[in-house]
Amino acid sequence: MTLEAIKWKDGKLQILDQLLLPLECKFIDIDNTKEGWEVINKMQVRGAPAIAIVGCLSLAAELQTCFPKFASKSELHKFIKEKIIYLISARPTAVNMKISGEDLIMNSRKLLDSEISLLDYKEKVIGLCVQMLESDVTTNKTLSKFGCDFLLKELPDDNNVTVLTHCNTGSLATAGYGTALGMIRTLHSRNRLGHVYCTETRPYNQGARLTAYELVFEKMPATLICDDMVGALMKIRKVNAVIVGSDRIARNGDTANKIGTYQLAVLAKHHNVPFYVCAPTTSIDMSLKNGSDIPIEERPENELSHIGKQRIAAPGIKCWNPAFDVTPAELISGGIVTEKGVFAPDELFSKLSVGI
Ligand code: MRU
Repeated sequence: MTLEAIKWKDGKLQILDQLLLPLECKFIDIDNTKEGWEVINKMQVRGAPAIAIVGCLSLAAELQTCFPKFASKSELHKFIKEKIIYLISARPTAVNMKISGEDLIMNSRKLLDSEISLLDYKEKVIGLCVQMLESDVTTNKTLSKFGCDFLLKELPDDNNVTVLTHCNTGSLATAGYGTALGMIRTLHSRNRLGHVYCTETRPYNQGARLTAYELVFEKMPATLICDDMVGALMKIRKVNAVIVGSDRIARNGDTANKIGTYQLAVLAKHHNVPFYVCAPTTSIDMSLKNGSDIPIEERPENELSHIGKQRIAAPGIKCWNPAFDVTPAELISGGIVTEKGVFAPDELFSKLSVGI
């Protein structure tokens, strides 16, 4: 059995409500882009690749039902463009929705110019959205293999590897398998995983709620730590690599990821631990020169002051809740792992920008 957070069956979209995990496993129906926008914004679905896939599939679901209202192909194309712009606005930092959405608009444009009927046009657009589910799993497996080969080659001996990861980058954050957690899963399948430490990932606890859930589900040897235990962990116990995901990588390699990633990278440098970022190329934003231009989402105060409905902070205190931080390229010492290979941050632009 595999964990599945996004289901598309007979033209219907369902997502696993990640706000309820790990205590409850409940799927909810998404019938249109308004509902798609809401579940992304409320973080019932989260993780950069999953956001893009659910966004596009919510458009596919809406096309199934509201189709009769279009009089022409150009009307349908206009509708697709408007909905993509709307969906991108649900969460600003992860770039995957923007890149996948722009790709869909480009393909829709090509179909608009072709000879096909309005009905076939709609079916093809839906088909492109559905394809994202399968291709994301393939991408994740490919990048995980590249990352695992690279990491094992860098290790001086045949010992098993102890890794640290942050936030959730597994099956729940993607269409399946995962990025950073995918690479860890590949290490496990090759019997080379010694231990995984996952951080709690305050304030939203994606590590404690979701990654821990996936690690237990996959029966990987794993331990949960609080975010503020990482320095002690690196000092007292051996960590061979830090492996994290990404929401947006600028073309110089600066990487936005879940808040707290930057401090892990600083600690990794101090303790001489290689730091890897795993991401599909749809997380790379070649239009940005560096990380200072990445928009950082700020979330509501109550995500910090409360856990669920329970207040934990003193009433009246102000809270600052940036959801992401930017790790400078020079701290990404292991490499950036993609489905096209593993790159040093300063190689990204020269090796991957062809055709952009
Ligand atoms: O706020 P979230 O839970 O959407 O943040 C998720 C992360 O930061 C992940 O590391 C990133 O999206 C990569 S998921 C494969």
